[in-house]
Amino acid sequence: MAIRKVAVLGHPVLRQLAQKVPAEKLSSPEIQTLIRDMIETMVEYDGRGLAAPQVHESIQIVVMLWDFEETKKPGVLCLINPEIKPLTEEASSFWEGCLSVPGMRGKVTRPNKIQVVALDQKGEKLEFVAEGFAATVVQHECDHLLGKIYVDRITDLTQFAFNREFQTFIAPQERNEEADS
Ligand code: NI
Repeated sequence: MAIRKVAVLGHPVLRQLAQKVPAEKLSSPEIQTLIRDMIETMVEYDGRGLAAPQVHESIQIVVMLWDFEETKKPGVLCLINPEIKPLTEEASSFWEGCLSVPGMRGKVTRPNKIQVVALDQKGEKLEFVAEGFAATVVQHECDHLLGKIYVDRITDLTQFAFNREFQTFIAPQERNEEADS
């Protein structure tokens, strides 16, 4: 296992369309090692989620810290070749951060409820509904696979700030969760 270098804004890998992982390659040592490295990198940098392009691999894998309802335990959720679709017109706004845009955060509005279909790291099909902040985290990560970064989605640039100023001036007036992903 290894902590990988995180690509930051401006690196072209963050703007590429990530390729699907062929099902037969999923169990390969390369892919399994990449997934473990992504988890280790996410934890090391205190992120809530990480997408493979952020570690210079333009393929469709994301990992996220996740509260599992079935087990009532927090853990890591890995999505391979994820497909998402909004289930509501309702939108929510959260302050997002990203390990590829270090030290900053911005307010982004996204659909509040989404359907997610993906494979997990064992190749099992996952299908679930995510709501609220969890829906935002999934959409943020899936955006990385499309070459999009949350800053592209900030509609009001007065709602974009350095972390320190965010904590001092904005957070006291906001109730929303925030995390780097
Ligand atoms: Ni991100």
